[in-house]
Amino acid sequence: MLDAFDRCRLHDDFRPVTELGAYPYYRPVEERLATGEVVVGGRVLVAAGSNDYLGLSADPRLKDAACRAIRSLGTGTSGSRLVNGSLALHETLEGRLAAFLGQEAAMVTPTGFLANLALSALAGPRDTVLADQLIHASLIDAVRLSRARLRRYRHNDLDHLERLLAGSDPAAAGLIVTEGMFSTTGTLCDLPGTAALARRHGARLVLDGAHDIGLLGPGGRGAAEHHGLLPAVDLHTMAFSKCLGTTGGAVAGPEQIMVYLRHHARSMVFSAALSPSSTAAALAALDIVETEPERRHRALAAAARLRADLAGLGFGTGASPTTIIPVHVGDVVLCCRLWRELFEEGVFATAMVPPGVPDGQSLIRVSTTALHTDAQLDRIASAFAAAGRRLGMIP
Ligand SMILES: Cc1ncc(COP(=O)(O)O)c(C=O)c1O
Repeated sequence: MLDAFDRCRLHDDFRPVTELGAYPYYRPVEERLATGEVVVGGRVLVAAGSNDYLGLSADPRLKDAACRAIRSLGTGTSGSRLVNGSLALHETLEGRLAAFLGQEAAMVTPTGFLANLALSALAGPRDTVLADQLIHASLIDAVRLSRARLRRYRHNDLDHLERLLAGSDPAAAGLIVTEGMFSTTGTLCDLPGTAALARRHGARLVLDGAHDIGLLGPGGRGAAEHHGLLPAVDLHTMAFSKCLGTTGGAVAGPEQIMVYLRHHARSMVFSAALSPSSTAAALAALDIVETEPERRHRALAAAARLRADLAGLGFGTGASPTTIIPVHVGDVVLCCRLWRELFEEGVFATAMVPPGVPDGQSLIRVSTTALHTDAQLDRIASAFAAAGRRLGMIP
């Protein structure tokens, strides 16, 4: 037989950037400061790629809630929710999330990835899942696991979606899967159009609100609330690792569907339950989302200011109206070199290269949070100016 490890030895995807000292991944953070800065390699850097949009991961109220939960419930849950890992705290959080999103029920999972993977229980080999081209890997894996037919439409291209719906087997069950706010581009789903097509063709609509729940909408309920369309979403999934400042995930929808998922979703049944500390932190974060709208306003205002500055410098930033600013580069090596130059300038951003983005569309993903001060935003913009000029990317 061939050696199964050969593929690992031959792995040299990142050799060109490693040789340039520009490998951007697995950089260990030594400290997260309350200012939103991070210490990496002993240097204090401005965090410019964080998903902690509301700046809650270091909030004392979340830390206190997590410590209290550890004192009374311990550090682990010992097993899956199904057997012995369920906590009253999980049920409290599920009730709060369901009410917050206007759904009948919710199911808390150990991560956002596993919340999406739970969707695999909703489809089978004869079914069709129609998905936006830019959906997250966890949603694609859910469809693969279900063995349903995956049909992808171009990003937010409703004509394409409609053609795929029209050509789908009417005898198959259909799901449309998309994201409220896309994680690489920061663009919003065309929810009014997508929801109308779902209704017209009898497909169920699943919306991943990982990035937008807590951030968008008058009450922080996400992209669906932003569009005034919360009731049009059949199932919501979410991740606590972004706006809720901790880890964990949830699916929210009709009670009957949650009962089914609790017994059939393998990522729920066969994985240890969310820790007491993360569950308590998510509850504390939800209180803050509901009472401190100024946090989301600040994060969005910071993005608008930084986006204008970066575009003014000559970078292609797209038209995202959210906290995610994609700085388009294209080439993988150039993208990693830009990441490295920014790092040298004291800015810790995120390099997104394939398979995280389509081939030829590598980008630096910049994101803003409620903690960014104007001075920090200026530092990020001047780092881009210096780095971009050194690399000949801007005049
Ligand atoms: C759109 C989207 N969905 C789901 C996830 C998974 O969430 P988590 O990292 O909390 O498991 C992510 C995380 O990157 C994401 O961006």
